[in-house]
Amino acid sequence: MKSMLLSGALLAGAIALGVLTAGGSGGSAASDAERARRAQVGAQDEWESRSVWACDRRKLVVVEGVRPGEKIPPERAQLVADVLMDLMRFCNEEITARISVDQVITVAANGRVFENYVVGGPLPIVNASFGEPTAREQAIWKAELDKVVAEGDRLFHSDELGSNGVACAMCHPNASNTHPESYPKFQTQLKKVALLRDMVNWCIQNPLEGRALAVDDPRIEALEAYILSQRKGKALEAGKH
Ligand code: HEC
Repeated sequence: MKSMLLSGALLAGAIALGVLTAGGSGGSAASDAERARRAQVGAQDEWESRSVWACDRRKLVVVEGVRPGEKIPPERAQLVADVLMDLMRFCNEEITARISVDQVITVAANGRVFENYVVGGPLPIVNASFGEPTAREQAIWKAELDKVVAEGDRLFHSDELGSNGVACAMCHPNASNTHPESYPKFQTQLKKVALLRDMVNWCIQNPLEGRALAVDDPRIEALEAYILSQRKGKALEAGKH
C-alpha cells in the first residue's frame, strides 16, 4: 500500500514535470499570446532607474522611477544636473547619488552613504586627490598634444592629402589666413554654416583635389589642432567675416 502511494506520487510528479517541460520548450500558441499580453501589461506599469554620468565620468546620478524609453521630465532632469554639478566640488572623487521617486537624495562616496542630502549642503568627503593636475600629468598631456600638432604640421606641409602636388602651407604659410577663430560661420562656397573642419575638407577637395576626410579621421583632428595652435591667444569671434 505504502509503495503504491509512493509510486502514485512519483507518477503524478512525472506528469507534472512533463507538462512543465512541454510548456517551457515551445508551448502552445495560446500560452505564448498570454505571456506576451502579461509582458505588455507589466511594461506599462514598469518604472526603471536611469543612470546619468557627469562629463568627467566619475560622478553618477541614478534616478529612480523613470518610465522605460522616456526622457527624464524637465524638473527632475534639472535636479539631476544640479546634483552632478554640485558634486563636481569633489573634483577627482568617484561619487554616486540616488534620487528616489519622492526626490530624496542619497549620496555614496568612499564606501560611505549619506542620506537626505541637500544640493549645496556639506558633505563630509575628504578630497583624496588634488584638484590641480600634477606637473607629471601636465607634461604627459602636453607631449600628447604636441604629437598631434606635429602630425598636423606635417600634413599641412605635405602633398599627401591631395592628388595634384599642392599643399596647404603653399598658400597658408604658418596657417595664415585660416581664421579658425571665426568659426562657425556661413560659408558661401559651402552654402551653409560651416565648422573649421568643413572648410578644411573643402580645401582638401578644392585646391588639393583630394578626397574629403571623415570628421573623426585622426588627420582632420591633427590639421585642426595645428591650425588652432598656430592661432593661440586669438579671441573667439564666431561668425566674423
Ligand atoms: C591654392 C592656395 C590654397 C591652398 C593650397 C589651400 N588654401 Fe585654404 N584658402 C585659400 C584661399 C584663397 C582661401 C579663401 C580666403 C578667404 O576667403 O578669405 C582659403 C580659405 C581657407 C580657410 C578659411 C579661412 C577663413 O577666413 O575662413 C581655411 C580654414 C583653409 N583655407 C584651410 C586650408 C587647408 C587646411 C588647406 C589644405 C588642405 C588649404 N586651405 C589649402 C587658398 C588655399
